[in-house]
Amino acid sequence: MRAVSEVAVFDAEAVIGAVPARTAIERTRLAFERHAGGEWSMPAKVYLDAPPAGDFRAMPARGDGIATLKWVTSFPHNPARGLPVVAGALLVSSAESGELLAIMDCAAITSLRTGAAAAVSAQLLAAEGASTVGLIGCGVNGAWAARCLVAAGFGPGVCADARPRVAEELAAELGWRVGSREEAAAQAVVATVTPGDEPVIKASDLAPGKHLAVLGADARGKAEVEREALVRCRLFCDEWEQASRGGELSGGVAGRVVSRPDVTEIGAVLLDRGEGRRSNEEVTLFDSTGLATQDLAIALAVLAEYREGRVDVPTVAL
Ligand SMILES: NC(=O)c1ccc[n+]([C@@H]2O[C@H](COP(=O)([O-])OP(=O)(O)OC[C@H]3O[C@@H](n4cnc5c(N)ncnc54)[C@H](O)[C@@H]3O)[C@@H](O)[C@H]2O)c1
Repeated sequence: MRAVSEVAVFDAEAVIGAVPARTAIERTRLAFERHAGGEWSMPAKVYLDAPPAGDFRAMPARGDGIATLKWVTSFPHNPARGLPVVAGALLVSSAESGELLAIMDCAAITSLRTGAAAAVSAQLLAAEGASTVGLIGCGVNGAWAARCLVAAGFGPGVCADARPRVAEELAAELGWRVGSREEAAAQAVVATVTPGDEPVIKASDLAPGKHLAVLGADARGKAEVEREALVRCRLFCDEWEQASRGGELSGGVAGRVVSRPDVTEIGAVLLDRGEGRRSNEEVTLFDSTGLATQDLAIALAVLAEYREGRVDVPTVAL
């Protein structure tokens, strides 16, 4: 009997290097399907408030022979002190023996699956022929939303950010252009990835056929979309339980203008159990709160590459 496990440690570079955007999209799509089909399980995310700076989240999931636990932060104003908004670790264990197999940088896992979720939503819900992208909030996770949308064939796009340099850098990387919030919001597919302190999508932005992927509001009290705009959209989310409590939809739920029958889970659409876009005129809105099963999907992809010998990382004995 071994007294200790050899645990592989993946830093951000190893995670990003192991999972190209296209693979992240495929895996995240699979996560939505497995989750909706009940094959992968995921207890509710636990929030631990750390006022006034932010909060911690514990996110467990199990599927395809592994169990994962992500211990992750959202400290929205950390960039002002030179620290990331999202940080922490993801533990990967064998679901058969309980053995700890790996520790992975969770910011990289989060960015891949968050960006991929925006791309899956656009593949599934954007109007026919929609290609231009507006990105409002070009920080760490916004950048990955844009990269994944590009990998899914969308673009070119407009980058808008309260920090012009961040928008310029991303636009230069992608061959897009920098623009105002209004210009970004006018594109066919719009992803919002701001801290959710103030609305960045207004009712006046809702031209027919637009698809909105709203990713920034992933906890109580955050919102990126004006209430008046929210109620004019066909609403989709990653998971009703989570989104109704701590996502973009939660304000509408609390205000009794959004209820369960108004909202379709994206996994149900993927499994043909729910209706997607009904016309080219509808405005669709996907509320992403981020599922532990998506993290699991990316961890599986990293682990597969490692087991194939394509990723070289250190191990620690624990
Ligand atoms: N849905 C999910 O699964 C998920 C996953 C990860 C992060 N998030 C959330 O996304 C948000 C952003 O996270 P991040 O790690 O990318 O942070 P970040 O700080 O790296 O990026 C946020 C960007 O938004 C910009 N911004 C702020 N207010 C703005 C405004 N009014 N208009 C335009 N730009 C504005 C900032 O300048 C910054 O560049 C956070 O609220 C985080 O909790 C959600």
